[in-house]
Amino acid sequence: MVKRIFLDMDPGIDDAAAIMMLSAFSELEIMGISTVSGNVEVEKTTANAMKIVEALELNVEVFKGASRPLAKRARHAYIVHGKDGLGDTNLELHNTKSLSNKYGPIAMIESAKENKDLWLLATGPLTNLAIATILEPDFPKMLKGLVVMGGAFNLTKYGVGNVTRFAEFNIWFDPEAAKIVSTSFDNATFIGLDVTANPKVWISKNEIDNLKETKRSSILRKIVKNYIKSYGSFVPHDPIAAYYLINPESFQIEDHCIKVKTGRFRGMTTVDNYSENCKKSRIDTDVDADSFKNAFLKSMEF
Ligand code: RIB
Ligand code: CA
Repeated sequence: MVKRIFLDMDPGIDDAAAIMMLSAFSELEIMGISTVSGNVEVEKTTANAMKIVEALELNVEVFKGASRPLAKRARHAYIVHGKDGLGDTNLELHNTKSLSNKYGPIAMIESAKENKDLWLLATGPLTNLAIATILEPDFPKMLKGLVVMGGAFNLTKYGVGNVTRFAEFNIWFDPEAAKIVSTSFDNATFIGLDVTANPKVWISKNEIDNLKETKRSSILRKIVKNYIKSYGSFVPHDPIAAYYLINPESFQIEDHCIKVKTGRFRGMTTVDNYSENCKKSRIDTDVDADSFKNAFLKSMEF
């Protein structure tokens, strides 16, 4: 049974790697990719999604989404992802046929209406999801499942921030959107830094260098080159969240209500086990690292 998925992303090096991994699994069908302002401006995240779609000859439409957070001003992550959002590789985009004129939040609502068992993976700021939920209050009920790469919940020793001491980038970039999403969806699965910041899941330069030459491995080597020079390894935040769609059994989950801070502690995510009738989310506390790394590396050789 093919699992139909919709991706909401801010490509971004690890978002691009997640598209390359997901598209290698025949049991998944990507129904569309919406883009959002995050790692870099939405014009660039959109172009980057199109570059991957074109390079891998995927039959997937790209839907440009929100150009800024709901309330704050955009502050991009050029230092991590480069000015172009793909490690300053300036990959070429030859044609824009994958670009739809449909707005990202509208596209995800329509895809949920057309595909009854649709899973949505969000690996960027949650602005598009928040807008979709405001436009269509029943949107959360339309999805089979929502998986979010985001948050730092202090449920493991790695669950601390990567923008400030306590805030993870996707939540920090648009905390008002994250607040809407975390209180609107039943059982959304959050995969945050508690797991992705654990070195056991990181991909080493050797592991990438040893991949056999394919379109995917060639693109991966290019887009992570500067990242690995700066950080030593590739931290696959978004591919780990994507892996949940492939092998959810390899994840350890705890149910908690989530509190998102929007003021002085902007983007901080804490678990709240005291409020009455709050929306429970499923928060990842561990993953089988070998299982994930084998799947990721094999997909790059597809
Ligand atoms: O904190 C990591 C997350 O922020 C990843 O999704 C990365 O692409 C950035 O969007
Ligand atoms: Ca991302």
